Amino acid sequence: MCKSKIYTHDYPMNTQMKIIKAIVLLILSITLIHCSSEEMPKPSFGGPSDGDGTPSKQYLTEFAAFPVGNIVSASKLASNSEDNLKFKEILLNDYNSITAENDMKMANIFRGPDNYDWSDGDAIVAYAKANGLRVHGHALVWHSSIPGWLTNYAGTDEEFSKLIENYIKQTVAHFAEEKDSLGNSVVASWDVLNEYFDGTSVRSSLFSQRMGADFHKKLFQWAREANSDVKLFYNDYNVIGISSKRSAILSMVSDFQSNNIPIDGIGAQVHINYQWPTITDIQNGFQEIANTGLLIHSSELDITVNPNDDISELTAERAISQSVQFQRLAFYYGEIVPKNQQFGITVWGFRDQDSWIYEGGTDWPLLYDNNFEPKPAYDGFRNGLDGQAP
Ligand code: XIL
Repeated sequence: MCKSKIYTHDYPMNTQMKIIKAIVLLILSITLIHCSSEEMPKPSFGGPSDGDGTPSKQYLTEFAAFPVGNIVSASKLASNSEDNLKFKEILLNDYNSITAENDMKMANIFRGPDNYDWSDGDAIVAYAKANGLRVHGHALVWHSSIPGWLTNYAGTDEEFSKLIENYIKQTVAHFAEEKDSLGNSVVASWDVLNEYFDGTSVRSSLFSQRMGADFHKKLFQWAREANSDVKLFYNDYNVIGISSKRSAILSMVSDFQSNNIPIDGIGAQVHINYQWPTITDIQNGFQEIANTGLLIHSSELDITVNPNDDISELTAERAISQSVQFQRLAFYYGEIVPKNQQFGITVWGFRDQDSWIYEGGTDWPLLYDNNFEPKPAYDGFRNGLDGQAP
């Protein structure tokens, strides 16, 4: 009998694999013509194999021992445009955790006193539940996502503080309701506070001005009161790359820990570039934040390649440097952060043009090009997730 195996998962595939596949298909079709009673030769593909010619691992989550995430929006999930169908195909293949890029931020939810619009977040949670994905909530309080009415709120500071308390409690409680098949909330975690520090100082913000010096602690306490299981994160940038900022954050964490202020995790945003941080910075950064014993989320990963505006297109050399940096980040995260503290790595976007720092087409910070094809960065990241040292 003449058998042939149909290989359906043909994404992601680098150019080399495409050429191999084209050759294999050519050989197969020639053989088919001549195939009568003898067994069809099995196609062979590169990479690890389970013995019958099928690669045993193909997608990012299969290479990682921890969750691998990316960002979504309710509108992209609802859309069936060609681009968004491709986006969802890659999302479900390569990732098992999602974060709303903007839909679950305060400016998008908090419409007025006791007036919350959770609809976009609900759509994201429903999609996650239907597809077995974890949702990381982002972000309850961030100085860059405040609705206009709240900025101009004319009530007293006490009333302002009460509005924030209600917002946090209602929002956390609401998103804790939807459960997965194991009975756990689909929204497993929240960035309770985002970017509280500006360098090594506490950032001056509407919240610090109206709620007093201890406002950051209250936010975590309110979130915990609303739900006892959800993991509570502090999230910030330059945690890995700048040791002085990291120290300021670690002092805050240690203050929380010695005063029973609830905190479960640290999110290191990891907006970095192809040369910085160095390997030593990455190792020290992960080691020091892991020493807190908290969950560590390598959140918001992107790696710019043109921070000095010295290239006008993504050169092969720069693409390789970016790939190496993605590999380092994934590898040292996996190697240094203890297993039970590995909350996961979340990449901040899919195609370069989707990135918040695409800079009008003058930087290329992500894993896929504008046709959704994996870049060398993808291979580096995958190898790092796979525990291959850079
Ligand atoms: C960015 C989004 O990617 C943009 O679409 C939006 O316009 C601004 O916010 N740190 C964060 C993220 O915590 O929420 C930010 O996301 C990027 C920086």
